[in-house]
Amino acid sequence: MEKFVIKGGKALKGEVHISGAKNAAVAILPAVMLADSPCVIENLPDISDVSAILNVMSSLGADVKLVNKSSVRIDPKNVNSYIVTKEMAEGMRASSYFLGALLGRMNRARVAPPGGCNFGVRPIDQHIKGFEALGAEMTIDNGMVDGCAEILRGASIYLDVVSVGATINIMLAAVKAKGLTIIENAAREPHIVDLANFLNSMGADIMGAGTGIIKIRGVSSLRGTTYSIIPDQIEAGTYMAAAVATGGDVLINNVTPEHLDSIIAKLKEIGAEIIEYDEAVRVTMNKKPRKCKVKTLPHPGFPTDMQPQIATVLSVADGVSIVTEGVWDSRFRYVDQLTSMGANIQVDGKMAVITGVEALTPAPVKAVDLRAGAAMIIAGLMADGVTEVEDIIYIDRGYEKIVEKFSKLGADIKRVPIIEENQINKLA
Ligand code: EPZ
Repeated sequence: MEKFVIKGGKALKGEVHISGAKNAAVAILPAVMLADSPCVIENLPDISDVSAILNVMSSLGADVKLVNKSSVRIDPKNVNSYIVTKEMAEGMRASSYFLGALLGRMNRARVAPPGGCNFGVRPIDQHIKGFEALGAEMTIDNGMVDGCAEILRGASIYLDVVSVGATINIMLAAVKAKGLTIIENAAREPHIVDLANFLNSMGADIMGAGTGIIKIRGVSSLRGTTYSIIPDQIEAGTYMAAAVATGGDVLINNVTPEHLDSIIAKLKEIGAEIIEYDEAVRVTMNKKPRKCKVKTLPHPGFPTDMQPQIATVLSVADGVSIVTEGVWDSRFRYVDQLTSMGANIQVDGKMAVITGVEALTPAPVKAVDLRAGAAMIIAGLMADGVTEVEDIIYIDRGYEKIVEKFSKLGADIKRVPIIEENQINKLA
């Protein structure tokens, strides 16, 4: 076990390079299973969720070879299993994408229910609805989600709720189905577009990704390809929020500015100066953050995965801010951690009322989930003194080299082992 030890109170200055997008990578890698020949996937982030997905693919029979630190060559030719066990899934949300990928590849899939960060319930009813519309028989037995189809046929599917996962999973199952599939009320996130572009580079016929209506004309086979993952919108937003939170001046390199529109708009409202370049944004903050209202919504709204980070910035704003969580049932579990650092936040259901305080103060905190963990680092960078963040395993799932990247911006942050009680006794 490890923790981060952060000595805060300094403004971040310098340049940070953004890695490939986690939520695009965890969708595109399973999609490789649909190909008849090898794929090379580039610009993969070095994070534990990507390693876990690659391990599942190897266990299913794919030949996975590292080309360099951020590229892999995957040959799905010998994939012969359709079973992803609980142990293989390692509690990842993205393991659910093997349902769509394996159904799409072999009309058969048996996958442990997906895990993922705890935001209250995380149902997959819309995924199931899509698979059944395509002709799969879906059952739950022995705690496994089981899908089986004689043949998959195109269908019109209306999502009752805008779901990234369901949109992705239906795309994976539909690309080789017979006929036309239309997904209405589809998610529009950048990683949906990235997956569609990847599948089309393999010979799929997908139109409308990035809009609420995606049309997929099934094809008989998909060929291997080489593809580079888009930059991570949320990693970029996290460093932008950290620059604002510490009153810094940071150039965030290797981004797609149009993916950051809602984040840029909100940080400007808070008082940041932001200059957009072709593939970079520069964030400067030289005043106390202004209070504001934030409501998280599906893309192109303000991303829910930026909610803990922006709330942390607003914890020291000049007045009362309101943050409303428009996507998840319960995504404020981190507030108790911030309160222990002196924040004044009242949560009522999906709304947090944040009364800005002069400054946060150091305290031992925990990462309760991936993005909340990033927010705890931001809080530690804001507080003058030493803050320790535990349960950082969550953070390592989605942020590549976070200690190195923050250190390059002047942060005093270290990853240190936690010596367990029994280990101390052994040492005694
Ligand atoms: C993806 O989760 C992301 N995870 C999440 O990011 C992100 O918060 C979320 O999309 C929203 O953008 C990955 O991409 C691996 P949803 P997903 O299906 O697909 C309800 C991170 O920090 N819903 O879009 O699980 C659901 O309860 C992670 O990187 C149903 O009701 O999210 C939620 O209220 C955390 N039935 C809403 O839809 C379903 O069948 C959106 O969920 C599916 C979802």
